[in-house]
Amino acid sequence: MQKNKILITGVAGFIASHIANRFLAEGYSVVGVDDLSGGKISNIPNGVDFIQGDLADPQTIQRLPTDCRQILHLAGQSSGEISFDDPVADLTMNTITTLRLIEYGIRNSVERIVYASSMSGYGSVPDAPIKESHHPTPLSCYGIGKFASEGYLRIYQHKMPYVAMRMFNVYGPGQDLSNLRQGMVSIYLAQAINSGRIEVKGGLERFRDFIFIDDVVEAWWRAVSRNEPLNHAINIGTGIRTSVGDLLCAICDQIPGSSFYISGSTLGDQTGIYSSTSVMKELLGFEAKTKLHQGLPSFVAAAKMQLQSSLNR
Ligand SMILES: NC(=O)c1ccc[n+]([C@@H]2O[C@H](COP(=O)([O-])OP(=O)(O)OC[C@H]3O[C@@H](n4cnc5c(N)ncnc54)[C@H](O)[C@@H]3O)[C@@H](O)[C@H]2O)c1
Repeated sequence: MQKNKILITGVAGFIASHIANRFLAEGYSVVGVDDLSGGKISNIPNGVDFIQGDLADPQTIQRLPTDCRQILHLAGQSSGEISFDDPVADLTMNTITTLRLIEYGIRNSVERIVYASSMSGYGSVPDAPIKESHHPTPLSCYGIGKFASEGYLRIYQHKMPYVAMRMFNVYGPGQDLSNLRQGMVSIYLAQAINSGRIEVKGGLERFRDFIFIDDVVEAWWRAVSRNEPLNHAINIGTGIRTSVGDLLCAICDQIPGSSFYISGSTLGDQTGIYSSTSVMKELLGFEAKTKLHQGLPSFVAAAKMQLQSSLNR
């Protein structure tokens, strides 16, 4: 039987490599693209048909197969702080790539595109679960680029249906521990393991919604395999409000002897945000299962092994 072929972008990165594993296990034929600007070749699961290239470059688009049925677009730059270093580069990686894939998808009659959007689009919000209908006021170039991508997807939805996955703070094994400017859990964890001293750029009373990678993979699986989510933006979060102080205490419990100190702030940082999950429950038929106290220990174990093996090399 002909396997269903899908295109997964950013496949050498943290989230897309986990998603690729799931689709391979479900019997899909996976074509993966990455320019390796942030991801690692070692992250790409066996069985992925890999194409190396920058998706903002039309020549990379020309090298993609014409018979993929779905696009899962996760390639991009994923740090609000880094987006201020070079806003044009951020726009190119996050938004121009989306436009190129919209053109490619329409040209090849792709059935749907599922997009890695972000809670960063919401910007400053009240201290309450944030609904998808909340008026977006992004605080970073990154948030603006993600929100713009969603706008392009919406405009072209009649030619190629979309699902926008507004992911909150994703964490788990495989997250890049060498990048100390992206991923709140991975930044703190890497410092705790490496030096026992965690630098916190911002207040402890800030709050976030931390979602474990396995729950995110399940959400993406449902976004591809169900019809209800088509042409919707969906929050992908737990609905649980966790303060930065509580996250730090949980990490310090896992890494005995570690401590933290506050130093300055992070450009474009959101004070606090957590997710309303009613749309996710309704359209994906799903609720995140993994609490922070369950997900963190497996991330800590994987992180210790990863850092140890990089020291041995
Ligand atoms: N990690 C989170 O908490 C989170 C939350 C919301 C949204 N997102 C989004 O999800 C996606 C995946 O995030 P991640 O944490 O796995 O990041 P990641 O950096 O691990 O993965 C992104 C991958 O995209 C690749 N890439 C970047 N620009 C590219 C280009 N122009 N062409 C081809 N490949 C390119 C990188 O090399 C990298 O492998 C990103 O789009 C990010 O913005 C992440």
